[in-house]
Amino acid sequence: MKVLITAGPTREAIDPVRFLSNRSSGKMGYALAGAFVHEGHHVMLISGPTRLDVPHGVDFLAVDSACEMYEAVASYLSQMDAGVFCAAVADYRPKEVSAEKIKKDGAVLTLELVKTDDILGSAREVFGFDGVLVGFAAETEKLEEHARRKLISKQCDLIVANDVSRTDIGFDSAENEAVLVFPGATEWFPKASKVELAMRVVEVVDGLHGRRGH
Ligand code: CTP
Repeated sequence: MKVLITAGPTREAIDPVRFLSNRSSGKMGYALAGAFVHEGHHVMLISGPTRLDVPHGVDFLAVDSACEMYEAVASYLSQMDAGVFCAAVADYRPKEVSAEKIKKDGAVLTLELVKTDDILGSAREVFGFDGVLVGFAAETEKLEEHARRKLISKQCDLIVANDVSRTDIGFDSAENEAVLVFPGATEWFPKASKVELAMRVVEVVDGLHGRRGH
């Protein structure tokens, strides 16, 4: 299989020295890249800035903003059998990027933000992708219900959801506990290393790909 994986956070520039970002470490996406390669698959990893080493044997494309990630996915997705969208993409970006460093002139600074394009949400509808599509969901409540809503709205085959209100799993942790939400089925994956969760996702994606008869 050829698999495209998005990983890490994005950075949305405010001015030449400042940006908006989030707490994603990229660990889950890089673990997925490593696990797919380990099982003999071809991986294109499109990643926002992280401190991680790129796993051996992975094709790597570094991006910065949500917009750059969108363009990179748009260029490569059609050549892939599966897309695993693990990146914590910024949902909003500053409407205007100041060309000069913003000076601290006033007591209050207001930034106007505009929505970024939903990359995963564009996979089917905009890019016409018909391969196996996997999304991730970071939730703080009603894990399964919210994940199922995303599964349907983004037309995915699987949503891997985790509870980001817990400090022992998720962001920057080596471990994760997840709910795998499929159309018509739910699988609870107990707390384990991100590598073990990645291996389970590889197994599932492989099975879904096989069932599509490619
Ligand atoms: N995603 C994306 N492009 C975006 C936003 C999200 O590709 N601009 C992908 C993420 O990589 C992830 C999934 O969509 O696979 C997350 O869906 P999203 O609706 O953003 O959920 P949350 O990040 O959990 O946020 P919210 O619940 O606020 O919608």
